[in-house]
Amino acid sequence: PLPEPFQVPLPVPPAARPAGQADGADVYEVEQRAAELAILPGLTTTVWGYDGIFPGPTFTARAGREVRVRVRNRLPVPTSTHLHGGVTPPDSDGHSTDLVLPPGWDVSRGNGEGGGHGAHGGHGGHGDMSLWRFHEQERVYTYPLRQRAATLWYHDHRMDFSAPQVWRGLAGFFLVGDEEEDALPLPRGERDIPLMLCDRAFEEDGSFRYPSLDPSLTGEPGVEGDYHNGVLGDVQLVNGAPWPVLETAAARYRFRLLNAANARRYTLALQDADGRRVPGALVQIGSDGGLLAGPVAHDTLTLAPGERYDVVIDFSALDKNAGGTELTLVNTLGEGGMRQVMRFRVTRREPDDSRVPETLSAPERLRRGEAVATRSFDFRLTHEDGHQKWTVNGRPYRVGDIWARPALDTVELWTFSSDFHHPVHTHLAHFQVVSRNGRAPGPADGGWKDTVDVRPYEVVEALVKFSGYRGRYMMHCHNLEHEDMAMMADFEIV
Ligand code: C2O
Ligand code: CU
Repeated sequence: PLPEPFQVPLPVPPAARPAGQADGADVYEVEQRAAELAILPGLTTTVWGYDGIFPGPTFTARAGREVRVRVRNRLPVPTSTHLHGGVTPPDSDGHSTDLVLPPGWDVSRGNGEGGGHGAHGGHGGHGDMSLWRFHEQERVYTYPLRQRAATLWYHDHRMDFSAPQVWRGLAGFFLVGDEEEDALPLPRGERDIPLMLCDRAFEEDGSFRYPSLDPSLTGEPGVEGDYHNGVLGDVQLVNGAPWPVLETAAARYRFRLLNAANARRYTLALQDADGRRVPGALVQIGSDGGLLAGPVAHDTLTLAPGERYDVVIDFSALDKNAGGTELTLVNTLGEGGMRQVMRFRVTRREPDDSRVPETLSAPERLRRGEAVATRSFDFRLTHEDGHQKWTVNGRPYRVGDIWARPALDTVELWTFSSDFHHPVHTHLAHFQVVSRNGRAPGPADGGWKDTVDVRPYEVVEALVKFSGYRGRYMMHCHNLEHEDMAMMADFEIV
């Protein structure tokens, strides 16, 4: 039986604490390990977590202050950690070919890393072996963070196995702050809460259910054929807890919404106790790449996997019953129990001097005229020798192939087209959406993005800015099953 909704208090992941400082950088140590957690009442679930927790610890970093993270892999499989949204040098970006190996792992034995693949998942081959990097049991990732304040997240990115490894728990928040944001009177402290949304399925004994062809994740990659579109669960988790409840003050709260699901999309709305949608309740202040120019009030907000939206909800304006108001965050795309996400219960009055100013930031606005090149990327299912492959421009991912070579410090116009829902994510380079199907972008498309929800038969144009570092980076579909089935492409910044 599934748990009763709105019984478990919303957990907030603990803060990561630096182990020390070196050369002006904060140094952290994190261990990837298996642990038993109580997610469903009366049952335990084995997770694979950063420091054995799910979500992993939340990093709070400052723009311009370097963070170094030593990651130790105590799992039975290789890992790669990507800071999603980070402006990170290529050797710390968590490319799928840049792996931390468990003790005794033989890279030549042909099970994913370095080997060929079977029919179902995975890639036709792993291309140029000289491009792979292997670290024995641990490594240090360096994040210079020369970027704006923003809600980032980190997660596993192992070639062919990102989907099952994130499903098991390898994901966490990484929040970057800066002075511009500090100067604003936005809700902060206990009223600034990250919300990691994802769905999971469970076996009777409480273990995660996921249709891997080889559940040890040491052999053939991929999922059973029925799941090629993506794996969905029937339990909604927020910060790792099923359908939780948060008791709030009648005050403004900032929520950093992250869709960390493998394949589920959310169209979020806030409903009152009578099931009526509260209009304009979700006041968006930020996107993947930080603060918007000004707030945008939404009735509903759609998040594809990988996307983040920072919103402010003003519970004082919504608290009609003097201390008894219940509001439910729903997913209008979900069915049955999956229509519900979490509940807010307004239980107390407290002073609140926060505000959402009309001007939040002055983000640079890219113009079409700045683009020095135009490129198209078509995300599509193809059939080859009786096998399905998710491809970019008709090609499944292959190590060593390069789909584009943009020049450092230039802007290009990239067009993403699609046969299905494909959330397109670019590493390193952030972008601004300039059109959807030839029309103006949607109300939630504003600001800097690193992931965009490309819908079936849609054409999305984005101005992409390549700044930071030269090197080989990935772009891919953030439906993690599609990603594991080769819907990735490398680009090289030259
Ligand atoms: Cu969030 Cu390449 O991923
Ligand atoms: Cu996809």
